[in-house]
Amino acid sequence: MKTLLKQRRLLAFTSLILTTCFSVAAIVQLAEQTQAKAERPELFDPKSLQKGQYLGAASCASSNCHGSVKPRNVYNVKQNEYFTWLKQDKHTQAYNLLLSKKSARIAVNMHINGKPYESAKCLDCHALNVPKNVQARPLDIEEGVSCESCHGPAGGWIARHTEDGETHDKSVEAGMVDLRNLVTRSEACLACHQGNTQKSVGHELIAAGHPVLIFELDNYSAVMPAHWLPFTDKRKKQGEETDGARAWAVGQAVAFREGMLQLARRARSEDWPDFSEMKCYTCHHTLKFGAWRQRRGYKLKAGLPHWNPARYAVLRHLVKTLVPEERAKLDEQVESLADYIAKINTPPEIVAKTATGVAQTMERVIPKIMQAKVDDALTIKLVRLISNDVPYLIQAEVDSIEQAVMAINALVSSTARSNPALAKSGINKTINKLYKDIQDPERFDRDQFADHMAELQRLVK
Ligand code: HEC
Ligand code: HEC
Ligand code: HEC
Ligand code: HEC
Repeated sequence: MKTLLKQRRLLAFTSLILTTCFSVAAIVQLAEQTQAKAERPELFDPKSLQKGQYLGAASCASSNCHGSVKPRNVYNVKQNEYFTWLKQDKHTQAYNLLLSKKSARIAVNMHINGKPYESAKCLDCHALNVPKNVQARPLDIEEGVSCESCHGPAGGWIARHTEDGETHDKSVEAGMVDLRNLVTRSEACLACHQGNTQKSVGHELIAAGHPVLIFELDNYSAVMPAHWLPFTDKRKKQGEETDGARAWAVGQAVAFREGMLQLARRARSEDWPDFSEMKCYTCHHTLKFGAWRQRRGYKLKAGLPHWNPARYAVLRHLVKTLVPEERAKLDEQVESLADYIAKINTPPEIVAKTATGVAQTMERVIPKIMQAKVDDALTIKLVRLISNDVPYLIQAEVDSIEQAVMAINALVSSTARSNPALAKSGINKTINKLYKDIQDPERFDRDQFADHMAELQRLVK
């Protein structure tokens, strides 16, 4: 399951290669087919549409709208969004994944009655699966995760969002999801990449064969082929800087709050205890490598599973740096939560209440992170704090170490853009070594990892 990380880094390169290797003739031919499909006469009168109604991706695909083959410079959007999504974005494959043998096996293991590609349990994350009464016309479920899965139902704004005087804010009032806002954007992605009130991937689904959901806003946004304009200095000045270190920081905080709310829901459900909230390798390790746990010792009774602090491991540093007044409170709450979970037979309501308390503290933390100045100096400071945190990370186990390595990758990539000396320092090689360290969690070598973190420390001194 942990090969995912490597894939993710490679993917960033693959998508680059894809864009350059596509022959122009092939692109034009594809575009013609696409537009022939997209420019069919509309099946509805745009004026009759209502807020909250979904229309499907083809409604956005006209060449004068978002279906151009190449970027155009008429409006302040690229206009080839549909094409980028259709040809390069993995979200178009989300439904097709449900047709695979793997999905069939997952469905059997989950005791799902029927096919995975017909089950809401899978479709809710793998397609635009919305009730019939909010579909302006029958949606094509095979489109997978499409425009309105992220941007919200277009019924309220599609007809007028291009008219003079229309603004982004007005569209948002009419039902568009405000993806320019990093908190809202994180929530939109996390709904499927971590789970929300309607859907989730718990230990049962993982044991049935589903990959563990790992998400980090900046890494994942970088891997998604961007169908949005680059984040120019102008946008930065308007407070719209929505990638790099700031996206990483807000994404971390929102993922933790949402994760706590999910833990509270799980604790109150029949599925508790849900082992996916615990450190995977407390249970899933081979016995012959077990000796280091005995040397490390046990805070509570020996031999119990532990709460998985992966989403907090790195966030601690962010809170300490940007919202220091909340750090002690959070640490305290998180520690009682960890103890309650490790005791195994704590009444679930107490677990749920404690997790909700953490989420409430995060409600105060998130706006402060949103407002904070996230510049290169802060970014490097965070990299230093994380690379100095080896003792904590090692006892937190490899799920947390993965988060630390992804964080270092996101933060270093973000500052290296404006710091050529750092980019040339060979830091990428060190980061690659760190990724190698966590490639096979069962063979994770603590000493080697510590050496590589020390190497990183020297580079960011
Ligand atoms: C909470 C949302 C969610 C639910 C529910 C969900 N999935 Fe997924 N699934 C995802 C996401 C997100 C990914 C991609 C993970 C990544 O690449 O980081 C994924 C990936 C997959 C993959 C790819 C596995 C691989 O190794 O590449 C398969 C197959 C799959 N899901 C099948 C299913 C089936 C079958 C169900 C229903 C029983 C289901 N999913 C339910 C969100 C979900
Ligand atoms: C997986 C989620 C996702 C899907 C699917 C998706 N988008 Fe986006 N889209 C985004 C994000 C994130 C942004 C960046 C928002 C920002 O910061 O401006 C964006 C930006 C845009 C923008 C620029 C808007 C702006 O505020 O500057 C347009 C236009 C757009 N998308 C159209 C589309 C169309 C058309 C489709 C379907 C063909 C689509 N998107 C599918 C997530 C998505
Ligand atoms: C409606 C559910 C849904 C939403 C919302 C969503 N995704 Fe996804 N995403 C998926 C599924 C399912 C997959 C797996 C598709 C596949 O592997 O073919 C996926 C795959 C991805 C991948 C490819 C991962 C890999 O391992 O290659 C990236 C990157 C990604 N999503 C980023 C985002 C971002 C960024 C957002 C928010 C702007 C977002 N997604 C919103 C469901 C969703
Ligand atoms: C409290 C102990 C515990 C924790 C923590 C735990 N699991 Fe499991 N897991 C189990 C048990 C027990 C089984 C059932 C083994 C069997 O099928 O024989 C299992 C089964 C599995 C399976 C399917 C069987 C196999 O061995 O491949 C996978 C995959 C899995 N777990 C992944 C995870 C992941 C990923 C995590 C962390 C997010 C995790 N588990 C956390 C106890 C745990």
